[in-house]
Amino acid sequence: MNSPVMQGLTLNTPSYVKNARLIAWVADMAALCKPDTVVWCDGSDEEYARLCEQLVSAGTMKRLNPAKRPNSFLACSDPSDVARVEDRTFICSERQEDAGPTNNWKAPAEMRATLQPLFDGCMRGRTMYVVPFSMGPLGSPIAHIGIELSDSAYVAVNMKLMTRMGKAVFEVLGTDGEFVPCVHTVGAPLASGETDQTAWPCNPTTKYIVHYPETREIWSYGSGYGGNALLGKKCFALRIASTMGKQQGWLAEHMLILGVTNPEGKKYHVAAAFPSACGKTNFAMLIPPKGFEGWKVTTIGDDIAWIKPRADGRLYAINPEAGYFGVAPGTNTLTNPNCMASLDRDVIFTNVALTDDGDIWWEGMSDAPAHAVDWQGKDWTPQIAKETGAKAAHPNARFTVAATNNPALDPAWDDPAGVPIDAFIFGGRRSTTVPLVTEARDWTEGVYMAATMGSETTAAAFGAQGVVRRDPFAMLPFTGYNMSDYFQHWLDMGKKLRDQGAKLPGIFCVNWFRKDEAGKFVWPGFGENMRVLKWMIDRLEGRGQGTEHAFGVSPRFEDIHWDGLNFSAEQYKTVTHIDRAAWGKELELHSELFAQLAHHLPRELEETKAKIEKRLAA
Ligand code: OXD
Ligand code: MN
Repeated sequence: MNSPVMQGLTLNTPSYVKNARLIAWVADMAALCKPDTVVWCDGSDEEYARLCEQLVSAGTMKRLNPAKRPNSFLACSDPSDVARVEDRTFICSERQEDAGPTNNWKAPAEMRATLQPLFDGCMRGRTMYVVPFSMGPLGSPIAHIGIELSDSAYVAVNMKLMTRMGKAVFEVLGTDGEFVPCVHTVGAPLASGETDQTAWPCNPTTKYIVHYPETREIWSYGSGYGGNALLGKKCFALRIASTMGKQQGWLAEHMLILGVTNPEGKKYHVAAAFPSACGKTNFAMLIPPKGFEGWKVTTIGDDIAWIKPRADGRLYAINPEAGYFGVAPGTNTLTNPNCMASLDRDVIFTNVALTDDGDIWWEGMSDAPAHAVDWQGKDWTPQIAKETGAKAAHPNARFTVAATNNPALDPAWDDPAGVPIDAFIFGGRRSTTVPLVTEARDWTEGVYMAATMGSETTAAAFGAQGVVRRDPFAMLPFTGYNMSDYFQHWLDMGKKLRDQGAKLPGIFCVNWFRKDEAGKFVWPGFGENMRVLKWMIDRLEGRGQGTEHAFGVSPRFEDIHWDGLNFSAEQYKTVTHIDRAAWGKELELHSELFAQLAHHLPRELEETKAKIEKRLAA
């Protein structure tokens, strides 16, 4: 060990860490945050086991019954710390216009002045973990390295499952490699001699999730939960990476990536953007239903895609993550058998219920147990739920699991070269208005569809649920720069590829969530979404039929492969019908969005809207 001492604190820098900028930064951060100890994570299984044991002793995690769920744990958070905090998330670019109207902005100097005193001594009495991670296969030309400093062992073990984390990262980093510095604290320093009594330390009143895009830094204060704390995910792989992509000519997107192979063995790759908690993991792990014998769907990623153009004119995508942080409630062996099989062992569950036999349960998983301990540690029974509405699991309860647990994992999921994308899908959660599937007639129309996407809000973020908000490209909370510039970046990308003579991926807009007059979902969704996927593939192959309407092309009832499903033409009408009056209102909402984003809004989008209006009026 090479161990410089900072104000009485040994930095414990391992001798294999050679990157001078990294060593200096850790020293600076240790001097600021003043932890009791610094531990450099090596990513080994022994380290994981040790930290999990430590979290069990601290009361943060419970070991689940090994006979039921080997090597798995349950963590329950503080009730004030259960979701991403979008209103406490900031993009601190030098100029406000570079953050744009959809992001909270503060000038970097002002934010630094706010954070400095908060971070001063914020890790007192705690350990600072140095967590090295690679977003993307180690050493891949598409991958990037981050180092997270965190005073949460829960973060360290989650990062081990979610990213390529460990010692090998330092080798790739070498003496002068680039990394994104990410500093995270739960914001709960201990007084001298005080031992931590809280199972889930966090700061109940003060939270900041801060990004400095120009200097590519992430500072997170006060929360230990999900995207607020696992900084490789939303903060790095989306907010910071989207700004890198803009500068360097690539895309960082809130998209799953799947492979779909037809019975003849031809394989296609699809990247699909849906807002948080709208079934991305289910779609990425889809099992083709009855009537699709010989078809196969495989998962490359379930949440984020980094997409780069190559000299052959195609767009190649990698999943920068190595694990899933999925929404548990609603997941079951019928809706997502692959996901349930992934959760058999080696999982960290957060905010689900504990059953009397030491296993876990959530709403929608299976028949309710007669008794459980809910995510807040209270007794829960179906009767209590009936009387009080209490949920056994928090609606944003999660599982963290390595991708390698997924039985449907694509053999190319870790390929440094990525997979070529044939189609993009954009989908919101809309009970009305938006039809089951529409194909854009060209790239610009597709960008328009994605830019104007709306979705009903979910429990993944704090705030009211079920309210329709515009969520362009499912990136509203994740674009690290001005949204209109982001639209322009997509348009430019299409133009560049077209100018190279490339065939661009198809763009489709879907809505699995239309309801009937009784408020019930009409489309069966899940595996049955394969029927829509097949129509898309038929279209890519130039053999799928459809009907053209105001904003694109949709399949008629007879254009969908229905073998194995009883779905009537009448039901189909309910999920595909285009209501002119509703679309009139919808376009007014597009106008409101465009007014909000007027600064730098690409002219092509206004023109596309005018064309749609004209067609609707005709
Ligand atoms: C997620 C989210 O956790 O989008 O993936 O909130
Ligand atoms: Mn997500």
